[in-house]
Amino acid sequence: MCGIVGYIGESTCGKPLEVCLQGLQRLEYRGYDSAGVALVNNQMTQVAVRKKAGRLSNLIDDIQRESLPEAIGAIGHTRWATNGAPSDVNAHPHTSSDGQIAIIHNGIIENANTLKIALQSEGYVFSSGTDTEVAAKLLGKIAQLVIEETGKPDLFEALRRMARMLTGAFTILAVDVRQPNIVVGARHDSPLVVGLGQGENFLGSDVAAFVAYTKEAMELGQDEAVCIDAHNVTVTDFYGNEVHDSHRFIIDWDATAAEKGGWDSFMNKEIHEDPAAVRETLLGRFNTKGDIVLDEVHIDEEDFRSIDKIIVVACGTASYAGLVAKYAIEHWVRIPVEIELAHEFRYRDPILTSRTLVVAISQSGETMDTLMALRHAREQGSKVLAICNTQGSTIPRESDAVLYTHAGPEIAVASTKAFVAQITATYLIGLYLAQVKGTMFRDEIHQIIEQLNAMPDKIQHVLDTQSEVVLEAAKAMKDAHSFLFLGRHVGYPVALEGALKLKEIAYTFTEGFAAGELKHGPIALVDAGEPVVIIVPSARGRNTLHNKVISAIEEVKARGAYTIVIAEENDPDVNKYADVIFWRPSCPTLLSPLVDVVPLQLFAMDIATLKGFDIDKPRNLAKSVTVE
Ligand code: F6R
Repeated sequence: MCGIVGYIGESTCGKPLEVCLQGLQRLEYRGYDSAGVALVNNQMTQVAVRKKAGRLSNLIDDIQRESLPEAIGAIGHTRWATNGAPSDVNAHPHTSSDGQIAIIHNGIIENANTLKIALQSEGYVFSSGTDTEVAAKLLGKIAQLVIEETGKPDLFEALRRMARMLTGAFTILAVDVRQPNIVVGARHDSPLVVGLGQGENFLGSDVAAFVAYTKEAMELGQDEAVCIDAHNVTVTDFYGNEVHDSHRFIIDWDATAAEKGGWDSFMNKEIHEDPAAVRETLLGRFNTKGDIVLDEVHIDEEDFRSIDKIIVVACGTASYAGLVAKYAIEHWVRIPVEIELAHEFRYRDPILTSRTLVVAISQSGETMDTLMALRHAREQGSKVLAICNTQGSTIPRESDAVLYTHAGPEIAVASTKAFVAQITATYLIGLYLAQVKGTMFRDEIHQIIEQLNAMPDKIQHVLDTQSEVVLEAAKAMKDAHSFLFLGRHVGYPVALEGALKLKEIAYTFTEGFAAGELKHGPIALVDAGEPVVIIVPSARGRNTLHNKVISAIEEVKARGAYTIVIAEENDPDVNKYADVIFWRPSCPTLLSPLVDVVPLQLFAMDIATLKGFDIDKPRNLAKSVTVE
């Protein structure tokens, strides 16, 4: 959703604006409908605000045409519109009626209409259609009341009072020309992290906002407010009680990791980081005997042993990683694994006990649907283990335990390397459970670990050998109006993921199906020239499954489909039915999603590139979905 950055430093110079614009550049993946900044210094009577509809570059061009004043503090915002269309006037920051306060906001204020009507009845006038402007006007009013009560401005107190009045989800940052040496923030169900510098401090939706300036960061808890000046960070609850136990951490990646580094798009870079994402996620998770050690997970071995059911909650790509986990974990651990879209989960009264392990998978760690699902699970007494790629984010903080994927920052909106890292993490959990529950022999587990450790090289092999074939297939199919993706067993979630990638970035109607479902309806869609992508499992040890998928290819081919097939190298059965083949190196079927998804990621990217679309910032989407 929206990206937020705040900065305060020791001296008046160009740095506040620089930090905001750099931060917004790194946060633009969170929303790119409009962008804006607000600056404060000692001489101002009103906050200096500049905002523009469209990409951040529009704002930067505008500032270059007409410069902004020097400042001590600044806030910046990049918007994904939820409330009010994307336009200059709806862009953030919004200001109080007297122009002395500016705020930026991420989330949705659910009682904005009621508050607005009350303010209008007092004579307040609104120029935008946003909930944020309501908060700006309200904060201006409360700040004035605080001055009348205490004889001095206290923006921090005013913000806390306002936070207590708002319902919905929000992170709000505010600046006030009467206190230009502070930036204040408050969060409820929306992310905010603090960056700790020397003679300067930062606020951001995530650490990408300030990683170029400091690696030291601090998490803020739910319903906490923060006030930063150049030297101090004060955290309180919404009633002003100081909070002293905020968790500090060191950001484990470099600012360069969030740069394109010569690649034409982040997505291209990130697909090529698939091997590293798997390798890094496996790193350090084994002891010298080759057993899996998940010390960081902080769930007692005894508790793990008692688990009799797993429910994975996640959305989109992360949910498909969960579906892969179902096949692997049920096979290895012999306990049921359900996979549930997080937004459906808590509305259907799921059966949860203290022996149910809920696994919440999220790249961003901020997906509101997943967060709500895990809160529901914990209220029902189940333990929640998060699989997450983002330090300092809300989902791991609110879970009982976390297993971090180490894919590095994922900037492109379409998830790629995080998907393979998530699958890898679920394998680790499955094998760990098999180890502690004794459902597999140690040597069997060690053999799978060895095969898992070989997967990064196999992914690299696919990237090295298949990219050209994929590009040619994309050229042949770029004008297709729709695609079908078919898979069986673990190929099914891969088909769903391949289809999602194409929808997201190439804007093509695409459906993924379980191949066995074809004859129950979807085959009616197959007409001459219809592209059908089919994931064929290995014939080794999975002969029946393999033959059934080959029959599915035969069936669609007989109806004139253009068939794009993913199959194991040297599979003799696919040649006669396939128009194009993306070859996978031989690997165990349960691990094959790690390689099979790679050509599909490339395929979607190539088609979108050939169509001239923005690969990294597809229309209508945002990387981190922090509203329900
Ligand atoms: C697809 C995609 C989304 C996310 C989903 C969950 O490419 O990126 O479907 O997978 O919104 O996001 P996280 O993993 O951040 O919870």
